[in-house]
Amino acid sequence: MSNSTTKAKDSPGSLERLQVDKDAVMVCQDNLSFMRPLSAGSMKLIVTSPPYNIGKKYERRSKLEAYIQKQTRVIAECVRLLHPEGSICWQVGNHLSRGEVFPLDIILYHLFKDHGLKLRNRIVWQFEHGLHCKKRLSGRHETILWFTKGDTYTFNLDPIRIPQKYPNKKHYKGPKIGQLSSNPLGKNPGDVWTIPNVKHNHIEKTVHPCQFPIELVERLVLSLTNTGDNVFDPYMGVGSAIVAAAMHERKGYGCDTVQEYVDIAWERFHSFHAGALRTRPMNRPIYEPRN
Ligand SMILES: C[S@@+](CC[C@H](N)C(=O)[O-])C[C@H]1O[C@@H](n2cnc3c(N)ncnc32)[C@H](O)[C@@H]1O
Repeated sequence: MSNSTTKAKDSPGSLERLQVDKDAVMVCQDNLSFMRPLSAGSMKLIVTSPPYNIGKKYERRSKLEAYIQKQTRVIAECVRLLHPEGSICWQVGNHLSRGEVFPLDIILYHLFKDHGLKLRNRIVWQFEHGLHCKKRLSGRHETILWFTKGDTYTFNLDPIRIPQKYPNKKHYKGPKIGQLSSNPLGKNPGDVWTIPNVKHNHIEKTVHPCQFPIELVERLVLSLTNTGDNVFDPYMGVGSAIVAAAMHERKGYGCDTVQEYVDIAWERFHSFHAGALRTRPMNRPIYEPRN
């Protein structure tokens, strides 16, 4: 593993500070500026969680129309970078205004369709912790819109199979009588994923207010790319997607406008390669308190 090189670049009006490793590129830069010089078709998986325009500390809240316009430009550039057999996974929740809920997947769906992308799944990410609402039900899920560029696309089911509920169940009649009736490699995980979100007691928690659980990105990396492919997160935060890519021998690309997050992303990346990064393993059962 080569060490990362850090090169300060004095370009006026830009936050640019190039940071490159042979297995990762993570830069403090606005995503449109980061993407422009990259080659068309170079990214097999683009996986991200954009700001939801709800006034988190890393975003300036704007009118919903202005937010959608910005997303339109970023999505267009992502589609240009997407490999012909590649996937885009846009993970979103709700924009909120005066107590009213605006589901971002519904709002953004057509921006992808306008580029001819095809929706393969709308994955529901279900989790247990979050704000307790007083005037509506507390939000306990978000979604991942998984689009492909074409009809031929990488999809590896075996690495993301989960244990069968009844692994020893056998055919009880017919020509296969006595043989196992379910796939011994496990079952398709389905499109509802129960994965703990990263709150204060999560092993992966950093200062970032809403980072991805690495296991969530691992599932997408394993199923939608092959070893050696490129994975890109245009809103990378503390680099969870880039670490997930590195864990499975893919090359990660990412950018974020907050230098502190980029620094933490590099720390996590190096910590992973040093064997010191603690992550929640994929498919660990959810903790159920006993009564
Ligand atoms: C929802 S968070 C993503 C967190 C990330 N998934 C992780 O695991 O850490 C959105 C991120 O987008 C970054 N961001 C906002 N506007 C950006 C822009 N124009 N270019 C790049 N990053 C941006 C924010 O600083 C924030 O860290």
